[in-house]
Amino acid sequence: MTHAKAAITGVFGYVPDYILTNAELEKMVDTNDEWIVSRTGIRERRILKGEGKGSSHMGAEAVKGLLEKTNTAPEEIDLVVCATTTPDYIFPCTANLICDMVGIRNVGSFDVQAACSGFVYALTLASQFIETGKYKKVVVVGADKMSAITDYTDRTTCILFGDGAGAVLLEANEEGYGLLDSIIRSDGVGLPHLNQKAGGSRYPPTHETIDQRQHYVFQDGQQVFKFAVKKMADISAEIMEKNGLAGDDVAWLVPHQANKRIIEATANRMGVSMDKVMLNIQRYGNTTAATIPLCLWDYESQLKKGDNLIFAAFGGGFTWGTAYVKWAYSVDS
Ligand SMILES: CC(C)(COP(=O)(O)OP(=O)(O)OC[C@H]1O[C@@H](n2cnc3c(N)ncnc32)[C@H](O)[C@@H]1OP(=O)(O)O)[C@@H](O)C(=O)NCCC(=O)NCCS
Repeated sequence: MTHAKAAITGVFGYVPDYILTNAELEKMVDTNDEWIVSRTGIRERRILKGEGKGSSHMGAEAVKGLLEKTNTAPEEIDLVVCATTTPDYIFPCTANLICDMVGIRNVGSFDVQAACSGFVYALTLASQFIETGKYKKVVVVGADKMSAITDYTDRTTCILFGDGAGAVLLEANEEGYGLLDSIIRSDGVGLPHLNQKAGGSRYPPTHETIDQRQHYVFQDGQQVFKFAVKKMADISAEIMEKNGLAGDDVAWLVPHQANKRIIEATANRMGVSMDKVMLNIQRYGNTTAATIPLCLWDYESQLKKGDNLIFAAFGGGFTWGTAYVKWAYSVDS
């Protein structure tokens, strides 16, 4: 074990061009802009169009941009971890596909499946390889094409989700910057409340599973909402207490973007004002494993070296997690 921490040294995001607005959803299901905005905070989301394009397409675009921006050659990367709930295939994994598309060869790559907490899980896992000194440069990418598993006849879910990807580069830092702590948790009690029932080994695809629309996201919104508010707020408060942080010590809360009301409740519990909360749910909706890196990408220019960031996520499983990151660079330095 070294004293090194895994620092994020670059971030890049990718969202598809097509914008699905609330007005367009009004034509598809019985809903309206006022309901969607007041209940969720979402105004529009991006949708990946084009035959044969899956989550890997967006993940690869994010990783390509990341390597270019950080002047990193594909040969320098030691490991790629992809968080996704919408892999292109059951196998091979999406990280394998992304490596191939980007030209990263002969290194380990694998997926992490922890639904909307996927990025915090993947970051926690990937950082171990840096901290132990085993690897020097690790890419963590969150990529989800939620439109592939969204039922656009179900008004309770189709308003929520969007497509996107975000990637970060992790490198060792000996000066106290980087991922200083993280907590990941799960509770299988969530299964009936949030799932995609068919398509896996328990219920392989059949004509019946398709007729019953079981290849789409099912969500009991109210139950998930209750858990999400409690668990995201609890775990964020826990990591702050564990690390002696008060609300004023936190420069930015970086929350999973599932519902603006859940984010507000979490910030409130942490004693962090909303002007210190990264928010892009209004433009992208819930992009599952991509929400946190897409927030970092959007807010990167405002981040200063030494800022204390708290990541917080909650998702299907249930899974939830948090990370305490001391930001390692300012864009202008
Ligand atoms: C999905 C969610 C936005 C629904 O909001 P809500 O305030 O809980 O709304 P409810 O489910 O109580 O529904 C209230 C009413 O609005 C209706 N409604 C649901 N979707 C609607 C829509 N898109 N447009 C208009 N009305 C809608 C419901 O049918 C219900 O009508 P009723 O009172 O006549 O029965 C909210 O529950 C949520 O965000 N859940 C958690 C999502 C989440 O965190 N997921 C994490 C996984 S990543």
